[in-house]
Amino acid sequence: MINIAIMGHGVVGSGVVEVLLHNNDGITSRAAEEINIKHILDLREFPDSPLSDRFTKDFNDILNDESVKIVVETMGGVKPAYDFVKSCLLAGKSVVTSNKELVAKHGQELVTIAKENNLNFLFEASVGGGIPIIRPMTQCLAANKICDVIGILNGTTNFIMTKMIKDNTDFKEALSIAQQLGYAEKDPTADVEGHDACRKICILASLAFGKHVYPESVYTEGISNITLRDVEYASKWGGVIKLLGKVSILENGKIAVTVYPAFVSNESQLSLVDDVFNAIMVNGDATGEVMFYGRGAGKLPTASAVVADVIDCVKHMKARKYLDWAPAEDNYVVNYLDIKTRLFIRAKTDNYNADKKLIVENFGDVQFLSDEGDEIAFVTDENIERELRTGLEKTGLKADAVIHIL
Ligand code: HSE
Repeated sequence: MINIAIMGHGVVGSGVVEVLLHNNDGITSRAAEEINIKHILDLREFPDSPLSDRFTKDFNDILNDESVKIVVETMGGVKPAYDFVKSCLLAGKSVVTSNKELVAKHGQELVTIAKENNLNFLFEASVGGGIPIIRPMTQCLAANKICDVIGILNGTTNFIMTKMIKDNTDFKEALSIAQQLGYAEKDPTADVEGHDACRKICILASLAFGKHVYPESVYTEGISNITLRDVEYASKWGGVIKLLGKVSILENGKIAVTVYPAFVSNESQLSLVDDVFNAIMVNGDATGEVMFYGRGAGKLPTASAVVADVIDCVKHMKARKYLDWAPAEDNYVVNYLDIKTRLFIRAKTDNYNADKKLIVENFGDVQFLSDEGDEIAFVTDENIERELRTGLEKTGLKADAVIHIL
């Protein structure tokens, strides 16, 4: 029998307990050992839990219990999760976490401590919830040089975009529906402004290319400024708008990482990923594109990934430290303005034909999506973003929307 502790009994933590209890027989046989939840750390009371006798409010009950070999962290946030996780690793306990903020911020340090102490620090649930992505990318695709990773990494924003695209619901209304359904938090900033997707692409980028990527170094734009007008133009262009996290390796060894809403062609599989679903497309030099799809959030899907990591820890005590990466040098992540892209631009106009001429003068061949009227909308050819922005300034147009094209 192996003793574990769970820190945090919120949505994911309680899901971990549920999965461990409900699927006990299968899990025991796969782990080849019984997994016993010895402590659950939470400041709240849970008198109705079948494990009500295991609750503690004191982290030291876990830290000082030498019989606890694996600690699950499902508290979320960095404080106090970072201190608790680091202390557990330094005390010789393997750690499994679902906490993307923690991994994106401190992952490099924590994997290094784990490696130095012959332990595991696993975080499959931190990206894509129940979708297997971290283990497949680092193990099954290990023979590849990864060229790029593109993902719909946030279920809440994908739900909102789907409502806007399919039901013609505006952003505010779609957000309110997402909140009523419990997808979006009361304060939806982390989801709608792209911070959650940013943390996830940072983790994937660190794993794919071997150096730590900090969220602060990633150009991040959310979906709160997307209007139904933009959705309409995307449809006219032949696609949909999706919030994407993207990372690719450049010839000079640096990487381009971005999070922004983008026009995605109807021919791309990513355009078909709707509602709260996530999808991650990994492009390896040997495999070509491989796509991972499923429920990127939610109690049981996320708990499924956490428990699988626990089983992995049980089966590989003092072994398997396949997840690690190095610190990055300054300017490892290139400025998004120096990356080649295409842009959709929409602006008001007083003189459609004159502005059309100006646009062609400054951008060359573009694809106009608007009909003659008081608004002009077009898609540029590919160029360095800085050049495209300079071109826009030269037209004198005041853009109401500038959206990237995948
Ligand atoms: N709030 C996230 C989402 C789930 O909507 O995808 C956890 O990362």
